[in-house]
Amino acid sequence: MIVTTAQLFKHAYGKYAVGAYNINNAEQAMGLFKGCIQSKAPFIIQISKGARKYTDKRMLEAIIRAAGVIFPEAIYAVHLDHGDEETCYECIDSGFFSSVMIDASHDPFDQNVAITKRVVAKAHAKGISVEAELGMLGGVEEDIKVEDGNACLTDPDEAKTFVEQTGCDCLAAAIGTSHGAFKFKGKQSLHFDVLQKIKDRLPHFPLVMHGSSSVPKDEVDRINSAGGTIKDSMGVDPNEYLPAAKLGVTKVNIDTDGRLVWTRVHREYFRDKPGDFDFRPPGKIFIEEYAKFIASRNQFLGSAGQLDDLRTSLTK
Ligand code: G3H
Ligand code: 13P
Ligand code: ZN
Repeated sequence: MIVTTAQLFKHAYGKYAVGAYNINNAEQAMGLFKGCIQSKAPFIIQISKGARKYTDKRMLEAIIRAAGVIFPEAIYAVHLDHGDEETCYECIDSGFFSSVMIDASHDPFDQNVAITKRVVAKAHAKGISVEAELGMLGGVEEDIKVEDGNACLTDPDEAKTFVEQTGCDCLAAAIGTSHGAFKFKGKQSLHFDVLQKIKDRLPHFPLVMHGSSSVPKDEVDRINSAGGTIKDSMGVDPNEYLPAAKLGVTKVNIDTDGRLVWTRVHREYFRDKPGDFDFRPPGKIFIEEYAKFIASRNQFLGSAGQLDDLRTSLTK
């Protein structure tokens, strides 16, 4: 069942965070639905502009619709990740997305407010939730690269003004993470101080944490033992997901970790079977491994085991 992110956040707020997982193909869709059903967790499917272009946006939509039929007990939102204004309107009009993200965080504050307000008006008219972003994460997102020095944490006072002026349903706040596999040099921790200040100014308002992959060391080591050369990677400690959730983070974005699972499975498979060329055996292993990974993240997020209670609360 497709629901809005606002419906998911109402149930999760202050108790747990909902995992928002980026997908691009059928194998990821199967692993994601399987892992969430196994762990009895609601979830958010994230679709980036790059994912929509990878095969064809209609292909990805069809894959997700099919997964919804295969797993009828699943409860999830379908969300546009890092949208520009034009793509938001396309997704709002598609009749398929239940949530969009307008990312005008690279624009000056007033312009970010103006663009976000326009998207909120169109989305809310159709019952669709809107995520906006304030502050800048480091790393690479879509076709934009933010150098480390240009990344800046969200200002808590600005966050309050921004939410009041735009009417967005949730806010992506920059609290020290970045996209990709190289998030921290040295000490690894979220800025809980900033999070606490935002919560003080915006009590009960859902926050989003981008760049939340944990970049597991054992995963990277296995990739490197099978021919990879990923150096100096570091992610978010997954033990910090739940403390962040208690401070209002209700959506935790994870993409890179899924790519690492894919890379590990395929590198190891073809290293061990250099004569093979059928992609289905490693594809099947990937689906199972990705499902296991998703279920484990849902445990850290506290979303595991929430599905039945959420279902009951939605029918009240
Ligand atoms: O924040 C960006 C996400 O990880 C999506 O990545 O644009 O390469 O699909 P992508
Ligand atoms: P990661 O690169 O940490 O997986 O973050 C993904 C993300 O924030 C998607 O919007
Ligand atoms: Zn992101």
